[in-house]
Amino acid sequence: MTLRPMSSSDGETSDSRPSFAFTAPLRPEAESLEGSLIQEVWEAGFGRENLIGLWVGEGDLPTPGFICEAAIASLRAGNTFYTPKRGLPELRDSLASYHNRLLGTALSAEDVTVTASGMSSVMLCMQTLIRPGDRVAIISPIWPNVVQAVKIAGGQPVEVGLDAKPEGGFALNLQKLARILDNERPRALFIATPGNPTGWMMESDEMQQVLSLCREYGIWLLADEVYHRFTYDRPVAPSFLSLARADDPVIAIHSFSKAWAMTGWRIGWLVHPAELGDIFGRLIEYSTSGGQTFLQAGALTAINDGEDFVAEMVQRCREGGEIVYQALSELERVRIAQPQAAFYSFFAIDGMHDSLAFCKELLEETGVGLAPGAAFGSSGEGFVRLCFASSPARISEAMDRIKPLLK
Ligand SMILES: Cc1ncc(COP(=O)(O)O)c(C=O)c1O
Repeated sequence: MTLRPMSSSDGETSDSRPSFAFTAPLRPEAESLEGSLIQEVWEAGFGRENLIGLWVGEGDLPTPGFICEAAIASLRAGNTFYTPKRGLPELRDSLASYHNRLLGTALSAEDVTVTASGMSSVMLCMQTLIRPGDRVAIISPIWPNVVQAVKIAGGQPVEVGLDAKPEGGFALNLQKLARILDNERPRALFIATPGNPTGWMMESDEMQQVLSLCREYGIWLLADEVYHRFTYDRPVAPSFLSLARADDPVIAIHSFSKAWAMTGWRIGWLVHPAELGDIFGRLIEYSTSGGQTFLQAGALTAINDGEDFVAEMVQRCREGGEIVYQALSELERVRIAQPQAAFYSFFAIDGMHDSLAFCKELLEETGVGLAPGAAFGSSGEGFVRLCFASSPARISEAMDRIKPLLK
């Protein structure tokens, strides 16, 4: 095959988007992917001394030793071969039992597929459901990766903004959602509850109404429940899995990252109608070809023996969230809600209209890294996100540093 030599007129693709100096075009969906505004602030702080970075969604605790030991033992035992595509059977069994124990569901291993992270779970859903041009309604502000995953699949994200309450916190306007579903006829509705970045959490009665809408319109409900253990007024967050029938168009997205401090392991799972199992298995075969066997041994220990650690993690976040709330709620310019779920404070600052510039300035002046609200969709401007999954001492120090700039 002969490639055309590059000429000066080749600097633009046919749709006049500038391209690299390649003689063959890239996929527009890949070429036009946006970088993250969180990353932009992170880069501004890279290498800075005495930095307190509260911008990304992870805590300051490493994975507990007993989980690491299980993975190491499995590696040493020679579990280094190809693995079943949908995950080790005993891990899928344990994940089904985990949900049944927590939520009173009646799931079996057939309803569960192990994935290469929560992000990978999101991507598998898009690959399974979204055709080019399909709309995906997304409750926002939202973790930006979801929007980009829709675009990679060739779909069109449609934001459904939560209403910001005057006293802080967020609420879903169900009439507005119903209107958007009726007008836009999306193929899927994506809801992260508990939510990143807002910490908003849906109640069961709202979930029931949303599920009815999805049934009525034939829309897939993608329920991102990766923060379901991080609740501060009850033991576990309400779940769409408790309400869904076996034939409902509901897929739940899960991850080991948050509750077991395993962000670097890249393991997650999906709970789905059993009939989707084969499709997910094939998509995994043709992408990652399955997860690392010995890491799944660690994940199995996390799910079977990790409850004390989860409780410790949630308690740490409860304290962190309380420190942030106490420190910032007394400031006149700040609108902040008492933490209800997830491990973020997403607060508004009166008079602040450019959250990216504000976060860069805050970083420069105080050495504290926060995430700009604009990173989480158009309804996020005017807000900043702070992850409080760190030690009380670290969070207190961050509060001492940033309070003067928020007065
Ligand atoms: C709402 C939400 N879903 C999914 C994920 C994915 O987590 P991971 O890819 O680390 O498993 C995250 C991570 O921040 C998240 O905030």
